[in-house]
Amino acid sequence: MRLDGKVALITGGGSGIGQAAALQFAAQGAAVAVLDLREEAAAETAALIGKADGRAIPLTANVTDAAQVQDAVARAAAEFGRIDVLYNNAGIGSKGSVAVAEEDDWDLAMSVNAKGTFLCSRAALPHMESGSIINQGSVAALVGVPNFAAYCAAKGAVVALTRSMAVDLAPRVRVNVICPGTVYTPLMEPMLRARGDGDLEAGLAKTVVKYPIGRLGTPEEIANVALFLASDESSFMTGSVITPDGGMTAQ
Ligand SMILES: NC(=O)c1ccc[n+]([C@@H]2O[C@H](COP(=O)([O-])OP(=O)(O)OC[C@H]3O[C@@H](n4cnc5c(N)ncnc54)[C@H](O)[C@@H]3O)[C@@H](O)[C@H]2O)c1
Repeated sequence: MRLDGKVALITGGGSGIGQAAALQFAAQGAAVAVLDLREEAAAETAALIGKADGRAIPLTANVTDAAQVQDAVARAAAEFGRIDVLYNNAGIGSKGSVAVAEEDDWDLAMSVNAKGTFLCSRAALPHMESGSIINQGSVAALVGVPNFAAYCAAKGAVVALTRSMAVDLAPRVRVNVICPGTVYTPLMEPMLRARGDGDLEAGLAKTVVKYPIGRLGTPEEIANVALFLASDESSFMTGSVITPDGGMTAQ
């Protein structure tokens, strides 16, 4: 039980990597607050945890809305007494290079990925005596991913924010960022389809060649890294940028 007695709040916990992390954290003994924009998605993850005899509550909030975030975090803290682990996982993709990207698309990518990380951290900190904040970056913060300009910029901001938070919050709270390579989830499907000119299989094939390990990642493989950062096993780590990416950024 690597998270025995801990309380975790996971944003974007209703799907993909966030759902995998919620299930793993709960299986390792954490009580989990599952926050998502989509009420039914948060409820589904919380129900899956409940069926496996874990403890979870669903929370509905938009991470870009300070009042909603404040309210959701307060409900998590009231239910479980405090917060030990915050996984700022909620994120959204974007469309196009700088030459064609829409201003609204830019604002949304920056708002969900970067501002959401700020707002959730600010709301959670008063409830964290100590513990671990895990931010969700991407390889897109570290290399140029074609036609993903706003997303690359937003995830770059998350990496820089992580370092700033790590310095400001040490030694009370550790803050690290995970920069995964491509994982096949609902978030990535439009990007993969666009890369294949509308053909998902072609898009997947074009993507896999960039991965020395010869395949895309799974949500569980990224959740494994989050579990390590959430646990006391990573007690000497703060401000680190971790890249579970199948070797994508090693080339
Ligand atoms: N899938 C990948 O290849 C990949 C790679 C690198 C980084 N990431 C990052 O991992 C994180 C999770 O991605 P995923 O692939 O599991 O995506 P996903 O789309 O499967 O899940 C994201 C979840 O976040 C929720 N969400 C979106 N906007 C929200 C908002 N404003 N407020 C609250 N919840 C919101 C969605 O409802 C969804 O349930 C994201 O930050 C993403 O950028 C994903």
